Amino acid sequence: MNTPLRVDAEVLENAAEGGVNHRLRVAIPDWPGFAPGQFVMLSPGARGAAERDDPLLPRPMAVYRQYEGSQVEVLYKVHGRGTALLAEAQPGQRVRVVGPLGRAFSLPEAGERALLVGGGTGVASLYELAARAIGRAPVSVLLGARSADDLMGQDDFAALDVDLHLATEDGSRGQRGLVTDLLREALAQGGSARVYACGPTPMMRAAAELAADAGQPALVSLENPMACGFGVCLGCAAPLAGGGFGLVCRDGPVFEAERVDWENLA
Ligand SMILES: Cc1cc2nc3c(=O)[nH]c(=O)nc-3n(C[C@H](O)[C@H](O)[C@H](O)COP(=O)(O)OP(=O)(O)OC[C@H]3O[C@@H](n4cnc5c(N)ncnc54)[C@H](O)[C@@H]3O)c2cc1C
Ligand code: FES
Repeated sequence: MNTPLRVDAEVLENAAEGGVNHRLRVAIPDWPGFAPGQFVMLSPGARGAAERDDPLLPRPMAVYRQYEGSQVEVLYKVHGRGTALLAEAQPGQRVRVVGPLGRAFSLPEAGERALLVGGGTGVASLYELAARAIGRAPVSVLLGARSADDLMGQDDFAALDVDLHLATEDGSRGQRGLVTDLLREALAQGGSARVYACGPTPMMRAAAELAADAGQPALVSLENPMACGFGVCLGCAAPLAGGGFGLVCRDGPVFEAERVDWENLA
């Protein structure tokens, strides 16, 4: 497990990539590395390091990938106030980073196909998993969005040696329909597979049900809103099948799909 850091990181790049999609690259001296699925808590406006220190609470963001020289990249969508402020950060300014945090994805076992299913911001949690699973297993990456503008990171995935399929609800890129349609087709090919899903809750639930119907294991990475990111505020609690709650920041964000009480997950 990599020990989390709490640092003010220098912004190297923060660029719009079409639609509401942005790419942020920061320098984090002594970055300890991360495992696929782990995240950081990002504050746009680190106290004492940039012009402002609001909003008060940081926002959770998946670590997309890392580069030599302790550079870390995040892909994000401008959603509300926190991400709008993040989009204003200029190269040379600093953002507060706490991480890496959370429970990571396990890599596929030998002989399994890895079926990665991403929608919305969830796509960002899957890139490093795809990169590290190559060589261990055949990797299929299935990305979905409402329209071509909403897709995130597809050029990066296309540059990997993976079997990449896209679906958009309006048919503007890839197959028209839902990304779970692609998953249904992939599972119908048979054989042993492990499903990894991150995205909107209905999408993850559908992916979990398809995997269960096919008798294959599934891991999901939940994207509940978070306040602290390390198990103190209890704000990220997710109901578990069989009773009780798991903290998405500490016990997740990655959970075995059958552990999640999908009926009661907000
Ligand atoms: C582990 C984890 C990893 C994440 N990784 C990424 C990533 O790599 N890229 C990315 O763009 N986003 C990611 N997210 C989601 C991201 O944290 C939220 O989009 C962000 O916090 C929204 O902040 P905001 O201030 O812009 O919006 P806010 O003003 O906080 O919220 C605007 C509206 O969205 C709702 N909302 C806030 N957070 C969420 C959420 N997580 N899910 C659904 N609705 C929400 C609020 O209730 C409110 O109605 C991740 C979330 C988690 C938990
Ligand atoms: S975000 Fe505070 S306990 Fe999980």
